[in-house]
Amino acid sequence: MAQREGFQLVVVANRLPVHLQEPGDQSWLPSPGGLVSALTQVLQAHEGLWIGWPGVTESCQHPADFEGIALEAVQISRDEYEDFYLGFSNATLWPLYHDAIRSPSFQRRWWNAYVAVNERFAEVTSRHAAIGATVWIHDYQLQLVPELLRRLRPDLRIGFFLHIPFPPIELFMQLPWRRRIVEGLLGSDLIGFQEPHAASNFSRIARRLVGVTGTDTRLDRLGRTVRVGAYPISIDIARIARLVESSEVRARAIQIRSELGNPEVVLLGVDRLDYTKGIQHRISAVAELFADGVLEAGRHVMVQVAVPSRESDPHYERERRLLEQAVSEVNGEHGHVGRPAVHYLHQNMPFEELVALYLAADVMLVTPLRDGMNLVAKEYVACRADLTGRLVLSEFAGAATEMRAAYLVNPHDLDELKDTITAAISADPKAARRRMSRLRRQVARRDVYEWADDFLNDLGTTSQQVDELAEGTHDDVRGRHSLAHLLEGGHA
Ligand code: F6P
Repeated sequence: MAQREGFQLVVVANRLPVHLQEPGDQSWLPSPGGLVSALTQVLQAHEGLWIGWPGVTESCQHPADFEGIALEAVQISRDEYEDFYLGFSNATLWPLYHDAIRSPSFQRRWWNAYVAVNERFAEVTSRHAAIGATVWIHDYQLQLVPELLRRLRPDLRIGFFLHIPFPPIELFMQLPWRRRIVEGLLGSDLIGFQEPHAASNFSRIARRLVGVTGTDTRLDRLGRTVRVGAYPISIDIARIARLVESSEVRARAIQIRSELGNPEVVLLGVDRLDYTKGIQHRISAVAELFADGVLEAGRHVMVQVAVPSRESDPHYERERRLLEQAVSEVNGEHGHVGRPAVHYLHQNMPFEELVALYLAADVMLVTPLRDGMNLVAKEYVACRADLTGRLVLSEFAGAATEMRAAYLVNPHDLDELKDTITAAISADPKAARRRMSRLRRQVARRDVYEWADDFLNDLGTTSQQVDELAEGTHDDVRGRHSLAHLLEGGHA
């Protein structure tokens, strides 16, 4: 890897793949999830570097490497946490890109912080990438980085993947800085989205706002080709299969059902506690089914895991309060002593425990109002090797584009939600098995490692001119790591 010469493969994401166990503490834990495993594996194969924010605003001593890959931290101040992270990323872009389920707020101060933090990520990346290296930038927090980085380092091959939805033109046009965001993304050689229609939303907007020419999959930007495509993310299927086989996990699943009172039907929801996930709509549907007598406490039970998230954001705090009120109402009205209708867990959970819950659940409720993909849907299906289990899935989750055999539902329609949950519970077992079998074949097509390979292989075949530039610019790119310096020097 010879750090002096830089890294050949660099992943840039808002967060590092490690996080502090407790704020103020100094023990670092690997961040959970298939994405971290997949990107770590790819970086291991190339002795690569991961650049990200360590998740705290105080200075900290983060580990220099993680499972054989190098880590480089980008620091974010307390004010930037407020304006860049809570503000522009999570109170402007997040709601706007999720169909404006909450009104996005447009604040110039937040935008300025977004620009400043994106510049910092671009500068740090430009210092560590080797000549002609491949850089893979992730997600909505860093949409300006591709263009900023290209200005500093035209020799790099730059890919960008958006993990969340990309909105239709009618919504995107609200954004006061819409042109800058599109130009930022167009700095990439390859832009990946979760779904084909997100990719075409972007290409249409780019043609309209920036005047690029081309098709939905190939845009011509200042003589360069920018490729645009759908790369639906997946899960670590082999890891799940191993856990499903493990006798501890299987025993735990049986124990969970017994702790729930061995009901006839266990319904399960697992989500980050986020207003996009439609958890309240789901609880309302379940509450009405208890009120209608379709569900009965003791015979039917629901478990809702709500993983704490973005707790310093008032929207999330309010969501939690309303959700907890809804759970308490349904239990107050329909539970029995020792037999609540809904078991609610507001906590992080080890993945082994989650898999045991997936195994224990007869019906999985994945009903977001909007979601880029939703990996819980894929994880549940990957667990049901015996073809039991039924998946109720929102039409507005990216996963619904692929998982057509699920019990699909519009979660905004309370009656339809109730009917679909009822249909899933009472479906003929043979028909339900056929659906699960189709879902499993679909999920098995690509795991998260193949997803990363697909993206990087396509990125590897982009833009021949990168190789030519890399040949000719060894001296030129050295020392061009500051955007301010570039602007002063008139290179930009
Ligand atoms: O789905 C988008 C995402 O940014 C994920 O990458 C991440 O796991 C989740 O939302 C939570 O994000 P954060 O805690 O970094 O705001």
